[in-house]
Amino acid sequence: MKVIRTTNHQEMSKIAANIILDRIKSSSHITLGLATGGTPIQTYAYLAEDYLENQTSYQHVVTFNLDEYIGLPKDDPNSYHYYMHQHLFSKVNIPRDQTFIPNGLTEDLAAECETYEQKIQQYNGIDLQLLGLGKNGHIGFNEPGTPFDQHTHIVSLTRSTIQANARFFGTVEEVPKQAITMGIGSIMESKEILLLVSGKEKNQALNKLLHGRIDEQFPASILNNHENVTIIADEDAIMNT
Ligand code: GLP
Repeated sequence: MKVIRTTNHQEMSKIAANIILDRIKSSSHITLGLATGGTPIQTYAYLAEDYLENQTSYQHVVTFNLDEYIGLPKDDPNSYHYYMHQHLFSKVNIPRDQTFIPNGLTEDLAAECETYEQKIQQYNGIDLQLLGLGKNGHIGFNEPGTPFDQHTHIVSLTRSTIQANARFFGTVEEVPKQAITMGIGSIMESKEILLLVSGKEKNQALNKLLHGRIDEQFPASILNNHENVTIIADEDAIMNT
């Protein structure tokens, strides 16, 4: 894994945005895997800023989001549909029918998982996957113990993830208890992975990722087996690791 160390969150976000823009500009067709959470917000803001300044086109870009909560309507401010619209899709010229996010409201969740995975394959898999890191090592919503070969599936969120994400909701009780997530198998099939890690609360997790052993109890550890991973970590996240 290649590690880029930055002085702060801004610099991490700028470098990430520049890598994404480079891949978008140098291809005639590209499929991006996108992440939500607090970490990539500034990266998306830089992409929006670039669009205002340079009108970099997204007409040839297809996106698949990693995950979505089960039970939240798309227009709920805490849904990842809403998040992506707010931070990126409304800011660039990406055709809406080229953006895919799991549907957490469908009655047949098993079918949704299968269809989502098939759609990714129809677009020849993900070229560049953006990832954040959960404090317990989760990627997407793949919690500790998730089999490494699993594809899109339903998960029950751990107490640690519910508590970490409660900051976006009014109370812990309002955080959905389940989500649909691309699996670790899906993520590992991406051709390139960009992992963003920011803040001192991620310091221990990053240390474990860089120096620990590969173990299903720490989902991100599998990234050590992928041949094209770049970690961009700010000083708070990487210090003393
Ligand atoms: C969340 C999301 C992940 C995200 C991670 C870290 O639960 N499902 O996609 O990468 O946890 O979130 P944050 O960037 O807010 O720390």
